[in-house]
Amino acid sequence: MGWRGILGFEYGIVQAPLGPDISGPELVAAVANAGGLGLLRAPDWEAPDHLRELIRKTRTLTDKPFGVAVVLAFPHKENIRAILDEKVAVLQLYWGECSEDLVLEAHQAGVKVVPQVGSFEEAKKAVDVGVDAIMVQGVEAGGHVIGQDTLLTLLPRVVDLVRNHDIPVIAAGGIVDGRGYVAALALGAQAVALGTRFLATEESYAHPIYKRKLVELDKTEYTDIFGRARWPGAPQRVLKTPFFMDWRTLPHHENETDQPIIGRSNIHGMEKEIRRFAGTVPNVTTTGDIESMAMYAGQGVGLIKKILPASEVIKIIVEGAQSLIQQKFIPEKLSGDRV
Ligand SMILES: Cc1cc2nc3c(=O)[nH]c(=O)nc-3n(C[C@H](O)[C@H](O)[C@H](O)COP(=O)(O)O)c2cc1C
Repeated sequence: MGWRGILGFEYGIVQAPLGPDISGPELVAAVANAGGLGLLRAPDWEAPDHLRELIRKTRTLTDKPFGVAVVLAFPHKENIRAILDEKVAVLQLYWGECSEDLVLEAHQAGVKVVPQVGSFEEAKKAVDVGVDAIMVQGVEAGGHVIGQDTLLTLLPRVVDLVRNHDIPVIAAGGIVDGRGYVAALALGAQAVALGTRFLATEESYAHPIYKRKLVELDKTEYTDIFGRARWPGAPQRVLKTPFFMDWRTLPHHENETDQPIIGRSNIHGMEKEIRRFAGTVPNVTTTGDIESMAMYAGQGVGLIKKILPASEVIKIIVEGAQSLIQQKFIPEKLSGDRV
């Protein structure tokens, strides 16, 4: 029926990587155990030993395959070496060049390569270097947003592009339930990647206040006020929190470097100070003025009413998609069955 099996996973449901450390071993293992593809997130600096620990910890929590995500805009060579040495199932890439050499190296290690793209041109490059699947991110997506197109318009173009290649397409951006899943299937995707929905789960490493805001608030905005110095030219979609609404018109010349420290966090084992307008989201270790920190979320956030276990999210999406397809798209078969 379309939702079974991408890249050898039971359901076509991917937990999108949630940087810097929100999709940790607990979330990834919970997703893997429930039949989805979970993606750990590598640190934004070279930390191969820490990354190996994360991978091994995840393996103590699940015997199912899973992947690791790397943002290519940050130092990553040693991290990728560790990922390939550990032979995880999938290497997910974002924001940088996914080269043919890297794809070959990953394939030699038996690791599949899945870049996330935000434009037709980026998708074309990914096809040309022989990737195993493509994640298409629409502008509805939470977190950093690499393109300008909506999923509704970009996804079918990428689907057409890969028509003669054996490359599954994974839809990302604003999808939180079975309806979004079926819509993505209708547009030609083989799978969906959900970020915000998995952020709002019991196993995600997000701070409880951040999780509560995902349930309470229902509007987001595309902006660049966070992390301008650390990651220039990388816009984000964030929750319209009271803090964001007060500061959303931050003048272009201002950035986090000259701002006060508003909190502290342990991120991937490193103690970090968090300045106002830093792009780092609050995790469970974060202390300080949590409400003034970046809170990324996709446009589907208004549909999230509860923090759920990750397995429950997968169950609801699969069952929702199945019943929707049966009720709305194959009525003849149903009436035939009844006769
Ligand atoms: C908190 C957060 C962190 C994210 N971090 C990453 C990341 O490290 N790498 C990446 O490829 N995408 C990242 N994304 C984007 C997701 O991969 C995905 O495109 C997005 O979550 C899909 O939209 P949705 O949030 O509406 O489901 C992040 C998204 C969120 C919400």
